Amino acid sequence: MPRSKITVIGAGNVGASLAQQILAQRLGDVVLLDIDGDLAQGKALDLNQSAPVLGYSGCVLGTSDYQDTAGSEIIIITSGSPRKPGMSRDDLLKINFGIVRAVATKAAAVSPEAVVIVVTNPLDAMTYTALKVTGFPKHRVAGMAGVLDSSRFRHFIAEELKVSSQAVEALVLGGHGDEMVPCLPLTRVAGEMVVNLLPPDKLEEIITRTRYGGGEIVKLLRSGSAYYAPAASAARMVAAVVRDEKAVMPCAAWLSGEYGYKDVFLGVPVVLGRRGVERIVEIKLDQKDEQALRRSAEAVRELCHQIDGWL
Ligand code: NAI
Ligand code: 2OP
Repeated sequence: MPRSKITVIGAGNVGASLAQQILAQRLGDVVLLDIDGDLAQGKALDLNQSAPVLGYSGCVLGTSDYQDTAGSEIIIITSGSPRKPGMSRDDLLKINFGIVRAVATKAAAVSPEAVVIVVTNPLDAMTYTALKVTGFPKHRVAGMAGVLDSSRFRHFIAEELKVSSQAVEALVLGGHGDEMVPCLPLTRVAGEMVVNLLPPDKLEEIITRTRYGGGEIVKLLRSGSAYYAPAASAARMVAAVVRDEKAVMPCAAWLSGEYGYKDVFLGVPVVLGRRGVERIVEIKLDQKDEQALRRSAEAVRELCHQIDGWL
């Protein structure tokens, strides 16, 4: 069987780490595209030279030419500009909107059947941009955030209880921003509800730390943001698509009435398979989480309204 062709746009920290995960997990061959073609080529060469040692047969092509990406099964967009001193969130929104609009349009033109996974921030607004400019059906455009945010939440709970994070089941819904919704009633450790295992003030502390998990790492790194866990999370989504796993995980998905929302991207549990978002899984939320989800949806809509003015 031929290996899947997977395009990763942006050969920066997240993009290159994702390419490495794709190779190591034997998910397919990677086309790593960056506006800086030398950077992409250099990283591809380095990754390919790790294959003989690690024993995988997939390979990476580094390029700045979209023709090389033609016929990809999946396109993952990680290209973007980080927030620089003096730059407002709005400035960043406009810059990354321009980047995502350009790359999504060019990549979609040569891979019209691809599933698009967006990583670039602000995540939900950039996923919206990709949907609008590609004209792809809604099930073929999704955003990566919920897998990462849930993983952070699971890690913090596991660390506190001194158990393996594999024993922690948790779901973070909503947009990838300060208003994200870590759902306590759905969080279990080896089947037991976490609310029975940790005191409310500790749980609140963990929820806050999860919401600001990206910022905590930015502060520590001093330049740039997290990339190991984001790349692993994007690779988890890639695996579900190329292996047609029908795995259930939280992703930014276009809602058409589910959870009471229409025409907005929001992090919700979905069935992810070869066709992309094959179904949205609706789970009953308690009143507190429903209200939090509403606030999160409003924050996402606000950014998307700005984008509507630029499309
Ligand atoms: P980075 O700065 O290391 O890499 C970005 C890359 O994009 C650079 O190599 C740059 O040359 C490239 N690029 C810029 N404009 C381009 C264009 N027009 N065409 C092709 N390539 C272009 O940044 P990093 O750390 O890899 O993060 C990438 C994005 O992912 C950021 O927007 C970041 O905020 C976001 N992110 C999102 C997460 C999520 O949970 N959704 C988690 C982590 C990062
Ligand atoms: C994160 O959550 C920066 O969105 C990125 O780490």
